[in-house]
Amino acid sequence: MSIQTVRTVADLRAVVGRWRQAGETVGLVPTMGALHDGHLALVHRARADCARVVVSLFVNPKQFNQANDLAQYPRDEDADRAKLDAASADILFAPAADQMYPDGFSTAVAVGGLTSSMEGIARPGHFGGVATVVSKLLLQTLPDRAYFGEKDYQQLVVVRRMTVDLDIPSEIVGIETVRESDGLAMASRNVHLTPEQRAVAPTLHAELSQAASEAAQGGDCGEICAAALARLKQAGFDPIDYFEIRDAETLDAVTRVRRPARVFVAATLGATRLIDNVAVKP
Ligand code: PAJ
Repeated sequence: MSIQTVRTVADLRAVVGRWRQAGETVGLVPTMGALHDGHLALVHRARADCARVVVSLFVNPKQFNQANDLAQYPRDEDADRAKLDAASADILFAPAADQMYPDGFSTAVAVGGLTSSMEGIARPGHFGGVATVVSKLLLQTLPDRAYFGEKDYQQLVVVRRMTVDLDIPSEIVGIETVRESDGLAMASRNVHLTPEQRAVAPTLHAELSQAASEAAQGGDCGEICAAALARLKQAGFDPIDYFEIRDAETLDAVTRVRRPARVFVAATLGATRLIDNVAVKP
């Protein structure tokens, strides 16, 4: 195995500092592990763009608003390391919680506006935790580019805003969602689905796609979303936190699509909360 595992910020800075001195570009892929092909698409893109690739693995307690979700979050660092080695990442940065949040840690990064809808409402405190950990990872690594998935589209938009607002000198690159052959977006939490739930789960993407095509043809977004939501309820999703069409840049609600927009959904199947979104191209 040629990938190197780094546990401390000091060691990370030492290695990245040597690369920088040699004039090499650096890409960062932040993750919470339990890696699947969606994560690896980010790594492959970073590998193609940058001389050096750092992948961080940190299950960030600050972004979990439910203790049992954090406790049950899938973890397998050895398997993740093997996948990252196969994908030719240079460093796995896997700090312990006290490395990221030592005693006395008292700072929080808050992004306004973009966090006042969807996941920001359904998961209070979530984006504060994401913004805090991502700003730390960016400042620890100072990558030329950092890679985020469109799977978590609101997160991508929030991270972009934060990076600009805080003058963090990294380019934020968004990567298209990687899906199973039946349309289900790959996600670490999918392992919790029972076979019966797994069979129903692709309905989410089917409804998103139908809503996107109806909205692109000029339909009323409220009516389109209400109908899709009712069908998802019928299929067994409960609760459905939201099914909404919003502007792709501002995340403002839209009634009829005239600019690039996205359809967003968050819905729970059994004990597993799934989120997904697709583009609407007017
Ligand atoms: P995590 O859920 O592990 O996801 C890490 C990155 O992989 C995120 O940018 C996410 O959008 C992307 N990703 C996940 N599934 C994907 C898929 N099917 N296709 C494409 N990209 C996908 O998101 C987080 O971790 C955390 O919030 C983090 C940014 C690491 C901060 O703690």
